[in-house]
Amino acid sequence: MSRPGKMHLVAYLKTGPTASFASGWRHPAAPLDDIWEPSRWENLARLLEHARFDCGFFADGLGIPDVYRQTFADYIGRGGQASLLDPMIVLPLMARVTTHLGLGATLSTTFYEPYQLARSLGSLDLISKGRVAWNVVTSSYNAEARNFGMEALPDKDLRYDRAEDVLAACCALWDGWDEDALVLDRESGVFADAQKIRYVDYVGPHVKTRGPLSIPRTPQGRPVILQAGSSPRGRDVAARWAEMIFCTVATKEDGIEFCADMERRLAKHGRSRADVAILPTLSVVVGETESIAREKAAFVESLVDPELVMASNSGLLGVDLSDVPSPEEAERRAGASGSQGSRDRMTQRAKAEGISYAEAARKARGQLAGTPEMIADVMEDWFRSGACDGFVIPPTTFPITYEDVGRMVVPELQRRGVFRREYAGRTLRENLLNAG
Ligand SMILES: Cc1cc2nc3c(=O)[nH]c(=O)nc-3n(C[C@H](O)[C@H](O)[C@H](O)COP(=O)(O)O)c2cc1C
Repeated sequence: MSRPGKMHLVAYLKTGPTASFASGWRHPAAPLDDIWEPSRWENLARLLEHARFDCGFFADGLGIPDVYRQTFADYIGRGGQASLLDPMIVLPLMARVTTHLGLGATLSTTFYEPYQLARSLGSLDLISKGRVAWNVVTSSYNAEARNFGMEALPDKDLRYDRAEDVLAACCALWDGWDEDALVLDRESGVFADAQKIRYVDYVGPHVKTRGPLSIPRTPQGRPVILQAGSSPRGRDVAARWAEMIFCTVATKEDGIEFCADMERRLAKHGRSRADVAILPTLSVVVGETESIAREKAAFVESLVDPELVMASNSGLLGVDLSDVPSPEEAERRAGASGSQGSRDRMTQRAKAEGISYAEAARKARGQLAGTPEMIADVMEDWFRSGACDGFVIPPTTFPITYEDVGRMVVPELQRRGVFRREYAGRTLRENLLNAG
């Protein structure tokens, strides 16, 4: 059974000019001179809230992928999806100018300690009045590990073991303050009721923390947990912890299969399909007419630098595509790095388009180009067929994709009754559970 109600929309963001669509920064309408201006991020937040998106989340990595030709030169030199700012500095700017938009941060459990994580995510939940989501990642390329004193990423199982330990520790920390512990009564001189604040004394197999946090209980209690791992272990962690699950699937049928698999895994943890929003990524190019859409898509595609696609996909797969392997060999060479979801997407794309895995691995991401009606048709079909609960939308061109979706696709979805006209809740969690 899929979730009742309406679909959810999340924006896939980066603190740089390119997100997952290679070479997006080269579009003449994509601004490059305001990346360090607060106004860029404030305007983005207003735009997404005006379009009634559930959430904008920043994808993030703690390094520059250097898998392709064993150097970062192509990735950064050609404009891969780099983080040019720490997203935790940008999200408060977005919180300041909005009241309902969810704010997602990607933070790695492999390198950060629970106390740091719980404190900064909790602080953001407090100042945003309950709108924070945490994209829990275990990190996926060795360049990240080398920035934190490791030679390579630990094995995936070990990373997911630690992720669960870190999550449990964070939850313990977030529960260390009762809701009414902070009194702030000048008259009596009682600042806080210390009886309502506890040591946590969390001791797990990988992390330990005593607590209590220095910050009080947050409006959501804990941030909305978001997970995007697609390996069997990643899916199990999502089934146990996540409230939003991101995936990349090539076709509607692959989406239906993913949801069915998640439903089985959720049941093992005593949860149901209605407890999570499953959101595949969808890249769109919207035009007022079909021919405008096709022209816009052709232009965007003409900007794509094939070497950047190779560098980007090498990073995602954890394998150097300058020496193209079979899927089996790619998996063997990737070892602990790379993402299963990306490998699955290449396999699904190869099957759907009748091409080899190696060809699929060298292609830029596909995009759905069409009129608002054509795009809404696909979105509604996937949603009603149980292939998803909504979509994660990356920009093909920033911020035009969100202006176009907000101006053209959202009103069409609203007319069809599959997307909210107003936010129903106050916090992100409330809006996820009640899509209006
Ligand atoms: C929409 C989407 C966004 C993602 N964003 C990030 C990210 O920002 N940082 C990251 O390290 N991994 C990101 N991932 C990758 C996964 O979270 C996961 O770490 C990766 O797929 C490796 O795990 P797996 O092999 O279990 O899939 C993303 C995946 C998807 C589908």
